[in-house]
Amino acid sequence: DATGLVDRFGRVARDLRISITSACSLRCTYCMPAEGLPVIPRDELLSAAEIARLVGLAVRDLGVHEVRFTGGEPLTRPDLVDIVRLSAEAAPGTPLSMTTNGIGLDRKAEPLRAAGLSRVNVSLDTLDREHFTRLTRRDRLPAVLAGIAGAHRAGLGPIKVNAVLMRETLHDAPALLAWAIEHGCRLRFIEQMPLDADEEWQRANMVDAEELLAVLRSRFALEPVGRDDPSAPAEEWLVDEGPATVGIIASVTRSFCGACDRTRLTAEGSVRSCLFGDDETDLRGLLRGGADDATIADYWRGAMWGKKAGHGIDDDDFVRPLRSMGGIGG
Ligand code: GTP
Ligand code: 5AD
Ligand code: SF4
Repeated sequence: DATGLVDRFGRVARDLRISITSACSLRCTYCMPAEGLPVIPRDELLSAAEIARLVGLAVRDLGVHEVRFTGGEPLTRPDLVDIVRLSAEAAPGTPLSMTTNGIGLDRKAEPLRAAGLSRVNVSLDTLDREHFTRLTRRDRLPAVLAGIAGAHRAGLGPIKVNAVLMRETLHDAPALLAWAIEHGCRLRFIEQMPLDADEEWQRANMVDAEELLAVLRSRFALEPVGRDDPSAPAEEWLVDEGPATVGIIASVTRSFCGACDRTRLTAEGSVRSCLFGDDETDLRGLLRGGADDATIADYWRGAMWGKKAGHGIDDDDFVRPLRSMGGIGG
């Protein structure tokens, strides 16, 4: 059956994002509580083989074109290299990427590349060590920078760097952009969404794309160049007449939900059709109960049919999802 993951609004999901753990080596305030998320018992996590089976099925039967591993922090999973290798074998030729905080990537980049990983996006919000430590609640900036260097050495590029816009680090943005250009990374700034475990996000206090542009323009000339493709979350800006660009993911003020092409799997093996909204469809039970690929694919299609029109952050009846970002996977 070649029917893809279509929803009632006519969107087609071709980009699969798989959270493989809720554990993380950092505690970013916009994502995790200080104590971290509850540990998921090992037998409740999808195994490497189960992940690979779902990757193969999604590509063969559901029209998925690209797979991204997220977390928590994917590098905290001891069997990450196996997950990548088995997934690459299950879906030959499909780009496999990872969103990571970079800690441990200095040593793992090469084996991951060899196992079939195509590229990485690394989260880094500031180069100011004190600001980094306050925001992530861990003094690990040097480890992140070493991780990015390791990814470059292993050829895991082009590397994108993701920076969430926070008031405490807004004025570090120009230095981060200068650094990214110098180091050949594609920097993207992201509006913070209400996915922090501490529920401190406030619409009125959020740093938005407008405010960031004003800060960047104190040091750089910026010209809009649009999106890489219609479903890309980032709008790109040419910096000082190029060739470098900077991206802005204005998830809140310029929502891209209408063009969303994502389907998600939680670390426990449920389909989540959107970052927001808590409806989840369990596939792990089907897998472990011996269901065939066609049955699993049907449940997956059913899960996506019910996808919300959008996150609705600015709607009067908006309710935050139960899971924080660390439990969904940015
Ligand atoms: P590329 O294919 O490299 O462009 O990756 P990506 O931008 O799809 O993935 P990444 O994990 O780097 O995501 C960047 C940011 O986009 C995340 O940190 C989130 O803030 C945001 N984001 C990711 N997925 C969604 C989504 O489904 N909805 C919304 N609103 N934001 C998302
Ligand atoms: N809003 C927007 N982006 C977030 N991320 C984590 N929490 C949030 C949030 N509340 C981003 C991280 C990383 C990816 C995993 O998700 O910076 O790039
Ligand atoms: Fe960890 Fe990423 Fe969440 Fe920071 S944003 S706590 S690095 S999962």
